Amino acid sequence: MSEDVQGQAVEESESSESSEATIAVHWREEGYYPPPPKFIGQANASDPAILDRFAEANFPECFREYADLLEWDEYWHTTLDTSNPPFWKWFAGGKLNASYNCVDRHLARDRNKAALIWVPEPEDTADAVITYQELYRRVNEFAAVLQDLGLQAGDRVTLHMPMVPELPVTMLACARLGVVHSQVFAGFSGGACGGRIADSGSKFLITMDAYYRSGDLLDHKVKADEAVEAARKEGQEVEKVLVWRRFPGQYSAKTPMVEGRDVFVDELLADHRGAVVEPVSMPAEAPLFLMYTSGTTGRPKGCQHSTGGYLSYVAGTSKFYQDIHPDDTYWCMADIGWITGHSYIVYGPLALGTTSVLYEGTPNYPDAGRPWRIAERLGVNIFHTSPTAIRMLRKVGPDEPAKYDFHFKAMTTVGEPIEPEVYRWYYKFVGKGEAIITDTWWQTETGGFLGTGLPGLYAMKPGSCGPAALGIYLAILDENGDPIPKGSGKAGNIVARNPWPGIFQTIWGQPERFVSTYFAKYNKDKDSTDWHDWPYFAGDGAVQSEDGYFRILGRVDDVINVAGHRLGTKELESSALSVEEVAEAAAVPVVDDVRGRVVEMYIALKPGYSADSGVETKVKTAIETDIGKIARPKNIWIVPDMPKTRSGKIMRRVIASVSNFTDVGDITTLANPEVVDKIRDQVQSAKRAKGEEPRELSETEAHEIKTYGEQE
Ligand code: WTA
Repeated sequence: MSEDVQGQAVEESESSESSEATIAVHWREEGYYPPPPKFIGQANASDPAILDRFAEANFPECFREYADLLEWDEYWHTTLDTSNPPFWKWFAGGKLNASYNCVDRHLARDRNKAALIWVPEPEDTADAVITYQELYRRVNEFAAVLQDLGLQAGDRVTLHMPMVPELPVTMLACARLGVVHSQVFAGFSGGACGGRIADSGSKFLITMDAYYRSGDLLDHKVKADEAVEAARKEGQEVEKVLVWRRFPGQYSAKTPMVEGRDVFVDELLADHRGAVVEPVSMPAEAPLFLMYTSGTTGRPKGCQHSTGGYLSYVAGTSKFYQDIHPDDTYWCMADIGWITGHSYIVYGPLALGTTSVLYEGTPNYPDAGRPWRIAERLGVNIFHTSPTAIRMLRKVGPDEPAKYDFHFKAMTTVGEPIEPEVYRWYYKFVGKGEAIITDTWWQTETGGFLGTGLPGLYAMKPGSCGPAALGIYLAILDENGDPIPKGSGKAGNIVARNPWPGIFQTIWGQPERFVSTYFAKYNKDKDSTDWHDWPYFAGDGAVQSEDGYFRILGRVDDVINVAGHRLGTKELESSALSVEEVAEAAAVPVVDDVRGRVVEMYIALKPGYSADSGVETKVKTAIETDIGKIARPKNIWIVPDMPKTRSGKIMRRVIASVSNFTDVGDITTLANPEVVDKIRDQVQSAKRAKGEEPRELSETEAHEIKTYGEQE
């Protein structure tokens, strides 16, 4: 399947069979870590009765408990409406406003409490502490600006903002009006942002002039010009670019403002000082935001999340899994540009009225002690981050946490599997043996956690995300849809058998793809309005051990999880293919000590071109322009030919094995087996010359490499 465009071919590919779904996995079972009694004593969920309340017999009404954490303008009449499967409607008939729930309703009691504490990257700059009262002011004033520009409920607006308090302010101002925000990670290129502007049909782009990253004040406005241009090429005109200034009143970018199109937000705000905008009462199923993610094809998927279901789900999971209490100081060290930040920096914690810490910069700037100094100074007691950040901080500063006086009660990890060895460091040195660790498995699509244990009720087990979350009935199915029993040592595809309030509603503009990618595989009757007939196919391989805990093995589609971020190989490859000289391109994962996986790109040139024509640089530039620096391959190998089957399919598992120094397996069925030795010599000697030595892979890593691309 080589098409990177929409259409028939692609849909087939996304729902295609995974020949390797059922594999035997053998690993050493890890020991358990029980939650400390001190934690259990204060936990939001410490009474096992909660498990009964969320048992299948009580579905879907059990989720009232989450929805009741919010204030509704109108109560719903149907908890789960399944009349148009699989486009589920949660809390149908209910009305509420997300901005009101995250801001206004806390004023009566907590007006002077910090809603956000923003830590700028330069360490000599003071934090910005934004109380609920001030957040209310700022959200209202910016909502007035948006309203003045003519924005209304249902309109889409693209945000391309860094980690500054203006980002949650912007999101909440949109939510106040029912305007659908689509925040694009600031590290993505202008081109990638433009594609998302066009896909969502946004007429407005909201950005910032500059922000700090690893000590530099980056010009970010330049990306807005590229984004507008890229959107125009796809037929979408951007009418206005609203530019927040990192230092209000002072422009920090070199790129000129475009007359008539670009406006400084601080200037617009001056006209709306003190404005109050009534929160618009939105139907529960009205879209709250879009969050784009990668899939099998080159076209990103705009995952559409609802207002009532989503907000209920992130409030409930923040309460029970992050164990957020009103007086906690909670820090999710992630970026709001990803789903983690939407759910667990902004909407979940603010819905609960807690204090959420926001950090602008990189975790190891200016050194690996930075996060621990922040935690010490602010008295952070709940800490949430990714395995990549933990691996990196462990690598560059294993002894740093011990130097600071901070104490976490709860820590979570998200986005990738965490290696047991890394887990143990996190537990001992960061948690100081006092904190529980909750490993949370979920996705952009799922809105909130799906696989994770209640921290006061379940022991932790390194390497496993734990059992299913409350009200989620997970299963592992084989290719025929038959359940694989727990403890069998066999892996398969993990599914959620039931809908839940946080599930995305559709892929923006691509409802058929929503059905074919996530439901077609295991649905036997497309007319059935019984949710039991619509298991949600997550696209991850997993295995369940005897104790019911799940271990996630990674994606079964063409997605590489780099530092916890999903990169579609088709997006990378089609970008490489845009370079004139390139005939073929294949992206493969390489196991990496810090980033989990990194990408290596193999390139074959068109006849008549030679490798010394700067192709490598051109490919790198193309990827940085189309996607962003985060997608830059670690290595680009220009090879004489790709190993292929007789039908012409590139054997990605063979090149992935070469890149990972593992056995290439059976190559007798290749059309050109002789090329494998050549590639191996070329690539492995070049890697050795760069000091990249072979490294032993765990069983699950080895499995991923050995079968990479086989599901196509
Ligand atoms: C992977 C991030 C193992 C998985 C919230 C999933 C994980 C993809 C875990 C979603 C975990 C996420 N253990 N793997 N705890 N959490 N993943 O959409 O492959 O950026 O499908 O959402 O990350 O990535 P996404």
